[in-house]
Amino acid sequence: MHSFFIFVPIQGIAILVIQFKLPFRGWGMKKIIVTIDGWSSTGKSTLAKQLAKALGYIYVDSGAMYRAITLYFLRNHVDWTDKKEVKKALKDINIEFQNIPAKETSEIYLNGENVEYVIRDLVVAEKVSEIAAIKEVRELAVAQQKKMGEKKGIVMDGRDIGTVVFPKAELKIFMTADSSVRVERRFKELFEKNPNITIEEIKSNLEMRDYIDSHREISPLKKAKDSMLLDNTTLTEKQQFQKAMEWIEKKRSA
Ligand code: DC
Repeated sequence: MHSFFIFVPIQGIAILVIQFKLPFRGWGMKKIIVTIDGWSSTGKSTLAKQLAKALGYIYVDSGAMYRAITLYFLRNHVDWTDKKEVKKALKDINIEFQNIPAKETSEIYLNGENVEYVIRDLVVAEKVSEIAAIKEVRELAVAQQKKMGEKKGIVMDGRDIGTVVFPKAELKIFMTADSSVRVERRFKELFEKNPNITIEEIKSNLEMRDYIDSHREISPLKKAKDSMLLDNTTLTEKQQFQKAMEWIEKKRSA
């Protein structure tokens, strides 16, 4: 919470202090679109959530949409190599983000069910890159993502947000980090849920996803030419947040 003071002199002597509590940084400033793309497990969502909260913007985890579609395909035994089956299945999928005030963020719902946690399972992670490479799946997700950014005031993270979804975004960030650091971070995160998981499983899943995401035919992961590179191998969360906020302030005051 940020505040400012107005000093109002009354009859030249008394000073009335009115304190306004501003709900977020830059209240009243022009709204922009911030895109965060990058390799798997570089902390895109962590940064995106922090920025959205500080700015009072909407946060959208686009990867969660591909994960939710993957979960639906797995649960319903959809053969995703069959275009007809994919098209039919996509018609039955409804994806929504709902704001969770207690957590000060949004969570994803698949046909009315909160799937924010189940989509993080390795079972989903193992298939999601394959499914995110399907043309029809991307068309559905990208159309929805573009709609969510119509009013600006949004931070969205993913792989093609700065290149395809919002090519005119005011600020584009591309995140990277050393692969060993990324594996370690992901391991810590998943080990809490599943103590049987191994470093080798995480490493091979990250390598596989990075390869498929950056080599697919449609919208492959690549750094937009006009994006800011953020390598957080040796940065703390606070340092990377401050760096990103500096970039944002520059864009908003430009
Ligand atoms: O960010 P994530 O790890 O939750 O993303 C899951 C997968 O979804 C990732 O392997 C690639 C895909 N993805 C994508 O193709 N395009 C996006 N905009 C976001 C994610």
